[in-house]
Amino acid sequence: MNKHTIQPEIITTADGSHSLYISSLDETYHSRHGALQESQYVFIQQGLEKIVSTGSVINVLEVGFGTGLNALLSAVYAQANQLEIHFHSLETFPLEAALMADYGDDITLGGHSVEVFRKLHDVAWNKMERVTDFFHLKKEEVSVQDAVLEQKYDIIFYDAFGPRAQPDMWTPEIFEKLYKCLVPGGMLVTYCAKGQVRRDMQSVGFRMERLPGPPGKREMMRGIQ
Ligand SMILES: C[S@@+](CC[C@H](N)C(=O)[O-])C[C@H]1O[C@@H](n2cnc3c(N)ncnc32)[C@H](O)[C@@H]1O
Repeated sequence: MNKHTIQPEIITTADGSHSLYISSLDETYHSRHGALQESQYVFIQQGLEKIVSTGSVINVLEVGFGTGLNALLSAVYAQANQLEIHFHSLETFPLEAALMADYGDDITLGGHSVEVFRKLHDVAWNKMERVTDFFHLKKEEVSVQDAVLEQKYDIIFYDAFGPRAQPDMWTPEIFEKLYKCLVPGGMLVTYCAKGQVRRDMQSVGFRMERLPGPPGKREMMRGIQ
């Protein structure tokens, strides 16, 4: 996959929120059954809400910043719960600013703050930046394979393209690297429910949980350190 493979077009999903479609991969950035619903359920409800934090700050690692939807929902969660979140997101192919300007408005973001959404896209890459009082973001332009992960995270949002479109993102080597940078009891959540991925994650040490999926999908997975 390279920059030229990614020619995203904006689509509207079943809950009225936007996603992107890449025709060369025949892949979308989120579920067609509802982008916002999927992100809220998989990463916030079955992820952030389940963390038992040990410190005053929750450290999140995301693989695949993409449209910034998971970051936006995390910023909303941080504000609502008065919890400080430091969100480190890895991305190899940052999206064009012009495309993102068309992407988010009141309706397609489900009533969430357009101002915060814009700020997530406007802040500089490769350094930790304050977005709100409760949400700091570091977008890093690097692949998960090359990223140097020196700190420990409470939770990992694994939001890569699916195993069919990008099999090299679902290897035991990557999961082993991610397992090692979690705090004890930390978790990785993903929308993926593929048996081979579950077995590979188990083989590097994760205790795996199969959970009911978001609307339109049967299952999702959570791996615990
Ligand atoms: C399913 S989409 C991301 C969805 C994103 N979280 C969102 O809410 O829009 C997968 C993302 O992973 C990025 N990606 C592809 N290869 C990657 C790699 N090796 N390391 C990190 N990110 C990668 C893609 O460019 C894309 O933005």
